[in-house]
Amino acid sequence: MNQIVKPATTLVIFGATGDLAKRKLYPSIFNLYKAGRISKSFSVVGVARRPWTNEELRKTVSESVDSEDKELVREFCEHFYYLPVDVTNIESFNELKSLVENIEKKHNIPENRMFYMAMAPQFFGTIATNLKASGITDISGWKRLIIEKPFGHDLASAKQLNHELREAFSEDEIYRIDHYLGKEMVQNIEMIRFGNAIFEPLWNNRYISNVQVTSSETLGVEDRGGYYESSGALRDMFQNHMLQMVALLAMDPPNRLTPDDVRNEKIKVLRALRPISKDEVKHYVVRGQYEPGTLNNQEVSGYRSEKNVDAESSTETYVGAKLLIDSHRWAGVPFYIRTGKRMSVKTTEIIIEFKDLPMNIYRKDEEKLHPNLLIIHIQPDEGITLFLNGKKIGISEGSVPVQLNYCHNCLTTVNSPEAYERLLNDCMLGDMTNFTHWDEVESSWRFVDPISDYWAKHSEDLTMYEAGTMGPKESHELLERDGFRWWEYTNQINFYGSGI
Ligand code: BG6
Repeated sequence: MNQIVKPATTLVIFGATGDLAKRKLYPSIFNLYKAGRISKSFSVVGVARRPWTNEELRKTVSESVDSEDKELVREFCEHFYYLPVDVTNIESFNELKSLVENIEKKHNIPENRMFYMAMAPQFFGTIATNLKASGITDISGWKRLIIEKPFGHDLASAKQLNHELREAFSEDEIYRIDHYLGKEMVQNIEMIRFGNAIFEPLWNNRYISNVQVTSSETLGVEDRGGYYESSGALRDMFQNHMLQMVALLAMDPPNRLTPDDVRNEKIKVLRALRPISKDEVKHYVVRGQYEPGTLNNQEVSGYRSEKNVDAESSTETYVGAKLLIDSHRWAGVPFYIRTGKRMSVKTTEIIIEFKDLPMNIYRKDEEKLHPNLLIIHIQPDEGITLFLNGKKIGISEGSVPVQLNYCHNCLTTVNSPEAYERLLNDCMLGDMTNFTHWDEVESSWRFVDPISDYWAKHSEDLTMYEAGTMGPKESHELLERDGFRWWEYTNQINFYGSGI
């Protein structure tokens, strides 16, 4: 049996009083602790502006973890410390350094330090500069930086940020989080493709007609209007999560499953994305915004009435796009991507539509064969569905689509770990496979920038969709022009039909 490696480390969290820390980081660290995946020699130092004490942080941590085992929670919380800091003041970093050194001595923790940036992105560069200046990164053990998105606002700002980070950390010490890469079924894409002889030989333009990637949400922007106004769906979801899924779907098989090999293959895909020039934006990308509508029998307001949103905002809450990948494997195969808020369902799924057979001997009855579809359910269901064709039961002729379902989260009794749990564990172990390399960030901004530049000057391109629907009609037209349609659930028995 594999021995569990239990990293001994100090994790410094910038933004310890924030939402991400409470909702995702503390519960994930707790689950790792409970599962015995962290050494008892570990500590977490929470830092933020608020004048909290250790006790206040520990109380917050204990409230954010979900466990009946009060004794375990108490023991866990004792590993947490808090320091109020002003990240623009080097003095704060000197204090932080002394605190970390004292904690390391007290708990016998080697000088392995992780720094997690979970706060407003405008401070990322300053924090890195001050970490270096204080000498806290000058250690005998390892140091790692985990950084949340957004990684820049466009290519120029991403380059600038990267430059600042690289003053203090090398590329192989920077862990850029994309939480989609921590999802069970996103990680399963490689296994489905490279672990199944029935898929990999068909995974190319000879057999696949198009690929569809959907990530729809029912929530609106909630209280993030301020951030979202300058981000929009293009920067919030498309530049990172969506393009990362495309890279995993389209990459060539890596020679080995090492971080370098996997990331190199993904980078090749992102570099092969056919650029969309400004003149082409409106033919390839649909930009939508939700209007008032009904969701789960409740009236919901439009984006422009959300808190901290301009009443005339042209920020997109929906992006639908057609991507082309200029490679031997994918030439001519459209990848359709859509993501949006306030849509009718919360789902992330990938659909691979296979080409029709060269000849359909069953076409006598004028009925077109249902295409073979492979559906990878990322969330909330986790699993795969394969659509084949079978004969209609009985004496009548003709075919009927049949589905083979594999429900991952129905079969296992173990809940899939939270994406953050897995990614934090990877980072502690020094495994960078599921983190975004700078070259990936660079290529995705290079692809996205002309789209956002064009939109900044052409608000007339904005299309509206009613909240509670699957996006603007223009997004359906994007596929119809090519003779395709979005596949999506049309009723309770999971039958996939036309998305309109
Ligand atoms: C985040 C975006 O990265 O992903 C949010 O900033 C979005 O706007 C979220 O809601 C979606 O994540 P998930 O895991 O719920 O699909």
